[in-house]
This record gives sequence, structure tokens and C-alpha cells, in this order.
Amino acid sequence: MRKRRFSQAASAVSNTVMPSFWIERITACARRFAIIGAITTLLLAPLPHLLNAAQAMHEMVVAESEPAARAGLEILQHGGNAIDAAVATSLVLGVTNAGSCGIGGGGFMLIYLAKTRQLYALDYREVAPKAATAAMYLRNGRPDEDLARTGALAIAVPGELAGLDAALRRFGTKKFSEDAAPAIKLAREGFALSPHMAKEVAMTAPAFMADPAFRTVYFTPDGKPQTADATIYNRDLAALIERLGDDPAANFYRGPVAATIAAFVKEHGGIVTADDLASYHPVWRDPIHLTYRNYDVYTMPPPSSGGVVLEILGMLSSGRVAGLGVDSPPYLARLIEVMRQGFIDREQYADPAFVKVPIEELLSAKHIADARDRALHHSSLPPIGAAHDHGTSNFAIVDKDGDVVDVTTTVNTVFGAKLMVPSLGLILNDEMDDFAVAPGVPNAFKLVGEKNNEVAPGKRPLSSMSPVIALENGRPALVDGGSGGPTIISGVTQVTLNVLDFKLRPAAALAAPRIHEQGEPDLVFVEESMPVKTKSELTAMGYRLKVVPELGAVNAIRIKPGILRGAYDQRKGGGAVGD
Ligand code: GLY
Repeated sequence: MRKRRFSQAASAVSNTVMPSFWIERITACARRFAIIGAITTLLLAPLPHLLNAAQAMHEMVVAESEPAARAGLEILQHGGNAIDAAVATSLVLGVTNAGSCGIGGGGFMLIYLAKTRQLYALDYREVAPKAATAAMYLRNGRPDEDLARTGALAIAVPGELAGLDAALRRFGTKKFSEDAAPAIKLAREGFALSPHMAKEVAMTAPAFMADPAFRTVYFTPDGKPQTADATIYNRDLAALIERLGDDPAANFYRGPVAATIAAFVKEHGGIVTADDLASYHPVWRDPIHLTYRNYDVYTMPPPSSGGVVLEILGMLSSGRVAGLGVDSPPYLARLIEVMRQGFIDREQYADPAFVKVPIEELLSAKHIADARDRALHHSSLPPIGAAHDHGTSNFAIVDKDGDVVDVTTTVNTVFGAKLMVPSLGLILNDEMDDFAVAPGVPNAFKLVGEKNNEVAPGKRPLSSMSPVIALENGRPALVDGGSGGPTIISGVTQVTLNVLDFKLRPAAALAAPRIHEQGEPDLVFVEESMPVKTKSELTAMGYRLKVVPELGAVNAIRIKPGILRGAYDQRKGGGAVGD
């Protein structure tokens, strides 16, 4: 294309009356540009994903929102550390990506501190209210899954602010109000609705149409859902974050804010009370770990599914996959088998305060070897839709001291329970859907729940959120995490393999087409960007494929001495910034 334009330019010049010296010089120059243009096109054409990548020497933030990534970097550049930046990035994500996460939800934070070379895992997952029961979603003896997804009964006690407060008090350097400033400014002065969020607003518009608070924020004055690039204001949310001052946990979970939330929930038929809010506590946990080739891979313990990621990696560690090709059928077939086994084991994962999760055994060499060898025979189930959802968000941060933070945070499905507390601009989660609403009943992600994960008061629902930090020679080499329900597990696993085994840079590792296998339904979800030949060969091997546009979103930063390379996932959009 470029070449033709320069060639035409050259011939146009040669048709005018000019001294031959100039004609020759201009023609030579045009040819040179034509060659450069062609080379540039050739180099860039297969790599459109480079647009979502960043390279830096000192510090970096990648997130599912450009303003959120920029807010984190701004805090780093003004003397904050990775934990401060994580608070700023989380709060901005809750403003710009309120369909995915926010202070009405909860999350997991994995931290590496360079000074002590220690890893920490902070669980600020939502918990079931005290009045919750295992039978709360049964109506006339039959489970009604919608009750766990939409409306006030779907709401679990939010953990986000308690978690951010705990992280900041333990490891941060700034006051909460300083780290919260970018979020307050954006919510008050406006931000551009991203194409991804515009899609989510349009998708949930019917459910929210009657909600006056949501309409004020996300609809035009004549009642249409706002579209991409429209300026959105959530001034009530700005005022709420501002009034949290420097004691966000006390000011959110107790007093007038808690009373307003509890009254709103009660009015809408929910069971979260002021006492539930006052009783919420985040939990510091020991990260879990597996040695994979030359790397020590760390992730969140239960109630996260990080252990499933480690199991899958473990099952692959005995063979070399790198030589097989990232989209080759033999590699993908192996991946499908071990992924299915990992998801079968996922049924043993749950809140460790309520259920003994045999995590040491699940990660033991013997269990992993047995799982690898196990022949898996599933009865076929009728095809059902892909487990596709974007109601979660991930971001990753590296600061100039080498501290690393990896956060996955969520309100569960898009816009959570589809309820906004009007005077607070607060979207409330529907995290109760991550419990098994009744044994054998699939949740919004088609995950079939078991007794381990049944509802109980004060219990945390099992999560797929699996932030990962991989160390090489004791230093962070890769930080990655994702969003998209169970496709977090498959996406994080594949991106980790793409970087550690296939040696791809983050942008290419994220861009590579992905698969997802979760045992039930007995289907392999495959992104449509997977080469046709690969899809045909997998089908010929006997796999039932379901081709879907995309599977979740993953962020990654590769850390090498003196250089950081990061990228956000173009499946969802975001920002990757550093210096
Ligand atoms: N709510 C999504 C997850 O925690 O897996």
C-alpha cells in the first residue's frame, strides 16, 4: 500500500518539467522511503498487539484501563511505592471500569517486597452475610440461580476497601487520601467511557433502565445508554471516596456509610446488614508455590484457584512444550487434558476456614504425576454457551525498588448485582453467585458447584482469580493475572507458559490465541483467531470445539535485569505505562 503511494508520487514528479538531477534525487528518495515503508509494514503488520505494550527501565503499571495505569504511575513518580500505586489503580479501575470491579466488590493482592524477598497474599474477597444459608436460593425446592446473580440477595459483604486499607497500613508509604486523589478527580471531573465499558453498559442497560442512580451516570439525558468516548461523571462516588478520608475501613464499614448501604440492601430484599459490614476482615495468607522448570511460581491460596494454575503447570513440567509450537495441535491437546484435570480438582477448592482443602497434597509431586497419567472419560453434555464474562479486572505493578504487586479484583459478573446505592454512586457485587447455589447447578460461568463451595454464613466463595508472580533465581521474572471467570485460570496458565516456555514477550504472549477446557461442559473453547489448521486437527483428534470470539483478558509484565516489558490485553483494552 505504502509502496504504491510512493511509486505514484515518484512518477507524478517525473512527469513534470524538472531538471533531471532533481528528478533522480526525488525518485531515489521516494524509492528509499518506499523500501522503508514496505519494511515497516512487513514488520508491523503481523504485530498489531505491539500497540498495547510498553517498555521501561524503572517502574511500570499495566491495567485494564489507561487512566488506572496512569494513576498508578503518577503515584510511583510522586514517591509512592507499588502498594500505594495499587491502591490508586484499584480505586480508578472502580471508577472507569465499574462494570468489572470497585469498592462494592473484593479481590486478591499478591505482593513481592524486594528488600526482604518475601511474598505476601492478601485476601479481601467478599463473604456471605451472617443470615445466608445453603438453601437461600431454593424456591419451592428448586434452585433459582438468577437470585444469586441479580438483585439484593446476590450481594456478598464487600471486601475491597478493607483490603486496600490493610495493604496500605502494612506496606504503603502514603495516606489513603493521597492515593485516592486520582479516582476522586476522575469520578468528579469526568472520564471517557472506554469502548469495552460502553459495550457493558449497553449489555446491562435493560437490567438497569429502571435504576435512577445508574441512569444518571450511564444514560444520556434522553434515556439512551452512553456510548464509547462519552464523558461519564459519578460525583456521588467521588464524594464517597473523599469522605473516607484516611481511615477508609472505619468510614465505610461503620457509621453512616454502612447504615446507608444496609438500609438500601434491606429495602431491596437483601440480607447484608450493618453488622455484616462491621464484622468484615481481610485475611493475610501464605502464598502457595510450585517449582516449574527454572522458576518458582507463586500465587494466591484458596479460596483462589491459583492452585489449579500451579497443578496445570506441574502436569506439564515433565515434558518440553516449547518445541511444539504455541498453537500446535500436540501442545494444545496436552494442555486440554491437563487443564481438564485441573478443573476436576478445582472442586476440592473452597474457603479454607470452612473446608479442609488438601492443597499440599494437590500440589505434591505424586498427585501431579497421578493426575497427569489419569485417563479422563466424561459423558458428553449438551453444548452450552461459552463461559465468557468480563466482570473482573486485573492489574500489575513493578516499582523502582523492584517491589511487585499483582491484583485481581471483581464485582463478579458485569455490574455485579445490577444495583447502585444512589447517594453513594456505589455498584454492589453479585459474588454470591461464585458459591454453588445448589449442588450440581452451574453458576454464571457454567462452573458446577459442589458441597465444598456451598453457601454458609461468613464464608468466602471459591474464586477463579489467580494472580501469579514467577521468580527466577529468587527475583521476580514475570507477573501476570487476568479476568473473565474460569478463563482466568486457563488464560493465566497459557500466558505464563507463553512467556516462560515459549519465550514470547508479553504483547505476543497475550496475543497468541487461547483455549479453555473446564471439564464440564465437555467442550474445548477455542478463540476464533486460532489457525484453521489447528482447529481442524484438534477436531480430528476427537475434541469437541466451541469457537468463541475471545477468552478472558490477561495482563503481564516480564522483568529482566534493567528492563521491564509489559502489556495489557487487547481483548479488553487498557493501559501499559512506565518510565
Ligand atoms: N467473580 C469471579 C471470580 O472470583 O472468579
